[in-house]
Amino acid sequence: MNHKTNQNTLYKIPANTLFTGKNLIFVPECHSTNNLAQQLWQQSTQPPEGTVIITDSQTAGRGQQGNTWTSDPGANFTFSVILKPAFLLAKDQFYLSMAISLGVYDYLKSLVDVPVAIKWPNDILIGEKKVCGMLLENSLQGASLTGCIAGIGLNMNQKTFAHDRASSVSLFAGHSLKLTDELEPLLSCLERRYLQLREGKTNVLGEHYQKNLFGVDEAREYVVSGKKLQGTIRGVDAVGRLKVSTPAGERAFALKEIEFVY
Ligand code: BTN
Repeated sequence: MNHKTNQNTLYKIPANTLFTGKNLIFVPECHSTNNLAQQLWQQSTQPPEGTVIITDSQTAGRGQQGNTWTSDPGANFTFSVILKPAFLLAKDQFYLSMAISLGVYDYLKSLVDVPVAIKWPNDILIGEKKVCGMLLENSLQGASLTGCIAGIGLNMNQKTFAHDRASSVSLFAGHSLKLTDELEPLLSCLERRYLQLREGKTNVLGEHYQKNLFGVDEAREYVVSGKKLQGTIRGVDAVGRLKVSTPAGERAFALKEIEFVY
């Protein structure tokens, strides 16, 4: 890589994880930590599982569905974790999304008293405001999942946002958070859920994910094909589509097929 690296000067290697963040690469600035992780993934010597690439500033942060991800430099977490979930079949890859969402969810629950929820598929909301987005880029080989670059953008200390549906943890916690102290508990929550997945506890993950889904079991309005639809989220199906009961019966929606109105 041609990037100026400043390994481990700010962030400490977490003591209480098994493998997550043991190889910790800090870059003061980069285009996108997911892109850096991809470069590492393609090198002849592969990075170990749990490698974390973290930066203070992304110049071309990427979001879901081709969107950009912006974050005030130095204010928030922007990092990617390299995972090797070869134990998981490609058809079950949504469980990985559940595990990572729950990891961030668990971490945030320990910080704020305001309701925290997972907005399908994997945004994390505090008090109905988005504080975290994730971009999971999976590599498949046949029927197996060989790798995942889990990119996480978690707004920690940013005070103002271009969108009024976005916020940060500090605005709810009432104080700012020291990123260098907070990385370890966050990585440890992520690893705990990943280990549950590795141990085959998909039922537990599915149950916890569904229970903490934003809007679950609440009659709400959604937009489908440009039209308003009254429905109630019931959970996700085996491939991660959103199950919604509607006046016409239960339907399952893929990404982009349903919009939240809230
Ligand atoms: C979204 O909600 O649209 C997903 C946002 C994901 C942002 C993170 S920040 C770290 C990693 N690097 C990127 O370029 N994107 C992800």
